[in-house]
Amino acid sequence: MNVIGISGTPRKNGNSEILLRHALKPFENDGWNVNIYLVSELTINPCKACDSCQEIGSCTTDDDMQRIYDAFRWCNAIVISSPVYYRNVSPQLLSILDRHYAVESEKPLAGKPGGAIAVGRGTSGGQTIVINAIYRWMLSCGVICVPGELNGVTAVADKPSDILNQKNRLDQAEVLGSNVLRVAKSLQL
Ligand SMILES: Cc1cc2nc3c(=O)[nH]c(=O)nc-3n(C[C@H](O)[C@H](O)[C@H](O)COP(=O)(O)O)c2cc1C
Repeated sequence: MNVIGISGTPRKNGNSEILLRHALKPFENDGWNVNIYLVSELTINPCKACDSCQEIGSCTTDDDMQRIYDAFRWCNAIVISSPVYYRNVSPQLLSILDRHYAVESEKPLAGKPGGAIAVGRGTSGGQTIVINAIYRWMLSCGVICVPGELNGVTAVADKPSDILNQKNRLDQAEVLGSNVLRVAKSLQL
């Protein structure tokens, strides 16, 4: 069984990446293959809206998105994290979300469970907007949106690794991961 985690922070050891890694721990403990994709290590261009995917059935932009397309196909579950940038997901993550357009008719993620994580520096800094953006994208892709304790995981943190001092948030990320895992297993994907 395979879970993919997509980290939307361009910073190494960003707080949202750390929470993502915690969310993936339950999968690791359950013997799953855990595959993490970091936008900080990938080159993924924005969608050009050239519509060649609609004509020839695949995206002509030759970059790391081709790996993500494959991961969408073979994964059994997905967890996505993002920093809050101007009350939105990071532009690097948005490129990945938009580029799903090229495989939309294939529905590679349909029926698979997913969870979302957002980190911003401000209290009410837009974390819930980011959670909503990720879950709305997931719904558009047919993903079964799984909550954590309440909703997706939201956290307030700023400097890289600050979140390590917030045990409650790290625990909440693991709860999110456990819930996604439980749904995946009940679906027997
Ligand atoms: C371009 C930019 C825009 C930002 N906009 C917001 C914002 O709207 N709300 C907020 O709470 N924090 C904002 N932040 C702060 C980041 O969300 C915060 O530093 C967070 O920890 C980043 O996540 P990361 O540690 O995973 O990189 C912004 C940071 C940058 C660089």
